[in-house]
Amino acid sequence: MRRAVCPGSFDPVTRGHLDIIDRSSRLFDEVIIAVLVNQTKQGLFSIAERIEILREVTKNLPNVRVESFQGLLVDYCRDNDAQVVVKGIRAVSDFDYELQMAQMNIGLSGVETLFMPTNPLYSFVASSLVKEIAKWGGEVSSFVPELVERRLLEKFRDVGTD
Ligand code: PNS
Repeated sequence: MRRAVCPGSFDPVTRGHLDIIDRSSRLFDEVIIAVLVNQTKQGLFSIAERIEILREVTKNLPNVRVESFQGLLVDYCRDNDAQVVVKGIRAVSDFDYELQMAQMNIGLSGVETLFMPTNPLYSFVASSLVKEIAKWGGEVSSFVPELVERRLLEKFRDVGTD
């Protein structure tokens, strides 16, 4: 069984993430989307919300499952018998940090990292920018799935722009 992990914050998931997840699901028997629980960073969406959204938008991919994780990614990969981490690379600017983490991770445990070039349609899309645009009423429909667009609208209606 070839199992890969797509780790990230997914706050929220974008069309760029989904493209990487979809393509990974064709390469591996199973793909786990692993949502990082970051104790030091309060996100816009709770971990439970991110997981629920991710499950909904990937329900067409039968070999993809969604979980949360804490601690080291290499430990999570070992515990889940995953041999590969898949990372999307949007631009050269992503590469420096991703290379450093990949080299650290292979040194720590032998887990391989596969860098997958992002679809150029989404090379400038980032969850942080999407949140900023949505917060001020900008159009995000081409960057995120419809469900996320709806949830962003609801979120900013509830919490405002403070
Ligand atoms: O979507 P993000 O926030 O860019 O994802 C970053 C993530 C979750 C892939 C990275 O922060 C990570 O792997 N965190 C787990 C902790 C860990 O293993 N740190 C050591 C990395 S060498």
